[in-house]
Amino acid sequence: MRRALVALAVACAVAFAAGGVVQAQKAPDSVILKGSPMGGVKFNHAEHVKVAGQCTTCHHPSKPEKPSKTPTEKCTSCHTKTPAAPMKTPIVAAFHGGPTAKQGVCIDCHMQQNKAGKKAPTTCTGCHKKENG
Ligand code: HEC
Ligand code: HEC
Ligand code: HEC
Ligand code: HEC
Repeated sequence: MRRALVALAVACAVAFAAGGVVQAQKAPDSVILKGSPMGGVKFNHAEHVKVAGQCTTCHHPSKPEKPSKTPTEKCTSCHTKTPAAPMKTPIVAAFHGGPTAKQGVCIDCHMQQNKAGKKAPTTCTGCHKKENG
């Protein structure tokens, strides 16, 4: 029984290594998102993974309109300044709901965490800094 399980595990590992269509990508420690004329946003990815506790808080599951190539594909490979069909959500909305940055994946958690005493930025220049490019 035990031997059979080990054999199965090895077979799976080999099959995964050989056939792995969806290769796990290495998560960056930190990224600078430079798309906004207001200044780049330095995003500490590793620290955020600890706070969120899971990848899917930010990397949403693949959607039928434009399926993901990997589970953690760059937001900007689909969400652009002016979305092209089938995409509808522009980059600004993907990150913070709209131009006023009152809600969305980044802001919702920051407001919630700040209620719990954290100091996460919620103002434009708290995230967008000219010195980040
Ligand atoms: C929690 C951090 C955060 C806050 C607060 C924030 N932003 Fe952003 N914003 C981002 C990120 C990240 C992006 C994506 C940048 C990119 O395109 O690479 C972005 C994108 C944008 C874009 C889109 C640029 C484009 O490509 O079209 C605009 C415009 C913008 N923000 C304006 C604002 C304004 C105005 C405020 C304040 C009312 C604000 N942001 C507050 C993080 C933030
Ligand atoms: C708090 C939000 C958040 C969480 C949680 C998060 N990520 Fe990310 N991740 C991002 C953002 C934002 C980017 C930059 C996207 C871009 O450049 O358009 C990114 C980029 C990446 C990239 C680089 C993609 C590329 O092609 O350059 C990988 C890989 C990645 N994340 C993996 C992970 C994994 C694995 C987890 C879970 C352990 C995770 N992420 C959790 C927000 C997050
Ligand atoms: C492979 C393409 C792809 C990637 C990569 C991608 N998205 Fe999306 N996203 C979509 C599609 C398709 C929709 C639904 C159509 C639309 O709203 O444009 C969507 C919708 C959204 C929405 C609108 C609300 C919803 O769930 O319908 C938000 C917010 C969003 N994405 C944020 C992000 C963020 C943040 C990232 C990166 C961490 C990301 N997306 C990466 C394809 C993608
Ligand atoms: C799951 C909750 C959560 C999400 C989602 C989240 N953040 Fe944060 N973020 C935090 C917390 C908590 C802090 C404060 C960390 C501290 O200093 O204690 C923070 C701090 C920051 C800071 C300032 C500190 C630093 O790392 O340089 C920036 C910039 C930032 N976040 C950008 C973003 C962007 C952009 C997104 C969306 C892609 C995002 N965050 C999504 C929880 C979150």
